[in-house]
Amino acid sequence: MERKAMPIRSRRAPYLAVLMCLILLLTAVFMLVVHWSVPAQEAWMGSRALKVAIVEVDEYYLSVSDARKVSQVQSETLQKHVLKTKAGASNDPLQCSISPQSRFDCAPEKYLTQDQCEARGCCYIPTGPNPPMGQPWCFFPVGFPSYNMENLTTTDTGYSASLTRSAATFMPKDVMKLQMDVFLEAMGRLRFTIRDPAHKRYEVPLQTPSVTAKVVSVLYDIQFSSNPFGLLIRRKSSGLVLVNTTVAPLFFADQYLQISTSLPSQHVYGLGEHLTSLNLDLNWTKVTFWNRDIVPTANANLYGAHPFYLVMEDGGTSHGVFLLNSNAMDVVLQPAPALSWRTTGGILDFYIFLGPEPKTVVRQFLDVIGYPFMPPYWGLGFHICRWGYTTTNLTRNVVTSMRAAGMPQDVQWNDLDYMDSKRDFTYNQQNFSDYPKMVQEFHQKGLRYIMIVDPAISSSGPPGSYKPYDDGLKRGVFITNSTGQPLIGKVWPGETAFPDFTNPETHSWWYDMVKEFHEAVEFDGLWIDMNEPSNFVAGSLEGCPNNELENPPYVPGVIGGTLRASTLCASSQQHLSSHYNIHNLYGLTEAIASHNAMVKVLGKRPFVISRSTFSSHGHYAGHWTGDVYSTWEHLYYSVPAVMLFNLYGVPLVGADICGFGKNTTEELCVRWTQIGAFYPFMRNHNEYNTQPQEPYVFSPRAQKAMRSALLLRYSLLPYLYTLFHLAHSTGETVARPLFLEFPADSNTWNVERQLLWGEALLVTPVLLEGQTEVNGYFPAGTWYNLTTGIAIKSRGQWVTLPAPIDIINVHLRAGYIIPMQVPGLTTVESRSNGMQLCVALSSDGAARGELFWDDGDSLLTFEKEDYTRIIFLAAKNAVLSIPDPVKSQVDTLKLQDVTVYGLLNPPKKVLVNEIPNTDFSYRLDTQVLTIPKLALPLGSKFLITWS
Ligand code: NOJ
Repeated sequence: MERKAMPIRSRRAPYLAVLMCLILLLTAVFMLVVHWSVPAQEAWMGSRALKVAIVEVDEYYLSVSDARKVSQVQSETLQKHVLKTKAGASNDPLQCSISPQSRFDCAPEKYLTQDQCEARGCCYIPTGPNPPMGQPWCFFPVGFPSYNMENLTTTDTGYSASLTRSAATFMPKDVMKLQMDVFLEAMGRLRFTIRDPAHKRYEVPLQTPSVTAKVVSVLYDIQFSSNPFGLLIRRKSSGLVLVNTTVAPLFFADQYLQISTSLPSQHVYGLGEHLTSLNLDLNWTKVTFWNRDIVPTANANLYGAHPFYLVMEDGGTSHGVFLLNSNAMDVVLQPAPALSWRTTGGILDFYIFLGPEPKTVVRQFLDVIGYPFMPPYWGLGFHICRWGYTTTNLTRNVVTSMRAAGMPQDVQWNDLDYMDSKRDFTYNQQNFSDYPKMVQEFHQKGLRYIMIVDPAISSSGPPGSYKPYDDGLKRGVFITNSTGQPLIGKVWPGETAFPDFTNPETHSWWYDMVKEFHEAVEFDGLWIDMNEPSNFVAGSLEGCPNNELENPPYVPGVIGGTLRASTLCASSQQHLSSHYNIHNLYGLTEAIASHNAMVKVLGKRPFVISRSTFSSHGHYAGHWTGDVYSTWEHLYYSVPAVMLFNLYGVPLVGADICGFGKNTTEELCVRWTQIGAFYPFMRNHNEYNTQPQEPYVFSPRAQKAMRSALLLRYSLLPYLYTLFHLAHSTGETVARPLFLEFPADSNTWNVERQLLWGEALLVTPVLLEGQTEVNGYFPAGTWYNLTTGIAIKSRGQWVTLPAPIDIINVHLRAGYIIPMQVPGLTTVESRSNGMQLCVALSSDGAARGELFWDDGDSLLTFEKEDYTRIIFLAAKNAVLSIPDPVKSQVDTLKLQDVTVYGLLNPPKKVLVNEIPNTDFSYRLDTQVLTIPKLALPLGSKFLITWS
């Protein structure tokens, strides 16, 4: 690498000699400073100057290769600057001697020349790639004017103080006086808000827990710095600083709010929705929140916004931060490690979750945004969809072919094809003339039916020709433009208006439309698409006005460069506020309207799947990850995506199996179906004009592999359903990353190609083409192959597993019991089949598990205690059940067989409720005991012993 850089380096030889001397000198000084002063990680800005000077010199070497990318002129300026800064570092009045990794951008909104930068009172050192990539060239000096804190007082719920700024910033309309309130909420949760006390500003209308008294936590200390203002949160047990907002100035201007914090580690997760690995990259990454219709692409703002991150701290403790703000936003991550929130409106409303376990952090977050809704049992079955089932017969054919191929399917879907001229709440009277009958036939077969609905309502027909528009117009449900008329954009049916789901009247109009359509076609769930909202023209057919909302002083890093790209004018008006403030809530508000409409129409549990989401979405609906391609890359990304949405409280999530865009291949589709069987929401969906990819179109070998993945899922549905119950009732995740379960094992912190179902099942899929082996990380302990019972005894290590095309590796963790059921071709069928228990003994012969069982689709069964919960315990050569409460739904449920993994000694005798059983068998090689043909009613306790 150095050799390649020769031409540039040789020009710099004299400078380098000087620099080498400087390095030696400064290293010596640095050693003394480190030796005599505070530990390096605790050093505050003032004492940091010398240390950072060293880093800067080192960084100069690094920057040589980067400098090759910039022009000759730039590279010369760069050299002069580095030397000038070095020479004056110790007495630099602007205090620019800040480690490159800890520089906070003073030119967030545009590129600045040196003069412009310095005119802002900022430091200019052009090192590294051109802005906005990499470290900023123009950055805040130590002491850049910020707010000062006054009148800190204690209140009933925490603290409050005034923050005042005496010098305006470079952003228009600074709010010079602010109010900060700190709420010491439930154990492990802290909230702080910063708002304009003089003017009410837009706030996200999420109903968060109200708090009347403060709870002093043993988990953290909070400290304030007054000049400049800053807030510091420290974990008591370790002394680790989790949040420190003094690292950069605070901005609170009308359309630009910025606050930065240091991070205690490099292990940061969240801030979705993006196409991303599980761990966020802190190397100058900008993540943008502005919901948008786009094929998932790296570094692009995608369909949803979840301004929440979770950090794994050294030692395995964890905390989380949620900024409750729905404005267009960027979060900048930098290697210091540090992070800056930059939002374009609203207020600063932060929740800090102190864990200390990562699981607890997620629950604390969900305490604020709401626990997930309980899906109907059938919703966990297999769903098939495609864009291009252009007739009822083509649609029927899918169901018939799946049956003929002996593959389970619970739900058949239709895309736009069913509609008349792509208009919601209509159907094509030619190709779908017997549409209602088709849906009834599905029901008779025990299947359910879901169709797509887009929010955009066709507006171009003559008055009286299309009720949803006529009625909506009369009832004033549409988003309006600057003249107060419905804003007209363009989506599938052509010209369209956009319902405003922040208007209560829109909810009742939506309900009326859903109800009326349901009277004709008895669909079971709603697929709400295009709800970012997507618009095929920028803003509206007439463009957008020229005003401050359309052209904010800071435009986050949105694809397309403007807020209106692929969506509505930011200044269009909604009932609650301008679209500018609430754009990111569009999908959520439509999901709420759809959830409520379905509850009223069906009187049963709703099933709504939405493309666009915002924090709290999981309380109402599920999500699919949009228009992914049929590529191995997108197959891989689906695994972190599913795990991350579980952290956001949206456990009902999955990607389009076999990929949506482009043609799949047989191998890709098999592998995708295998991991898809472990997406909490499992749907195969395909784009118009692409090759078919339903399981039955492939070779017998591929079909066999897919069938076995599907049957495996169906046999595991009692466990999956129980996990959803735990998510709904206690804020657990369903599909989770390994680090959530094994936080003390830092090897798990980067594992993103495996997922866990609950605590017990570890799934290790093949995500690469041509592989017949797969590497998986197995945390310390015993893991049993779910199919064979063969044990892996791990010390916490990577293990290579055979993975021929018909195998997905699934391992059961020692110490757990999972409920299973003989699979049928629909959940109606499986739910009446025999239950099975798989018992994975720990080294001391113990295990536990549970089953949640109810009728599968009534409303509020948990809340009304209309369910049966059965605890299973194994210990001392026995397994027993404790059903409580017992309700009629389990009357017909029978335990058919029990399999015990890890039984070291062959049993001679098995007693079932004290009666000898003669059907049991034991395999010496695998140490597996099987007790078949039981027929034990699960509503009663049982006891099985062996000796
Ligand atoms: C976009 C959705 O993401 C995709 O799933 C759907 O097939 C098309 N819209 C057509 O409705």
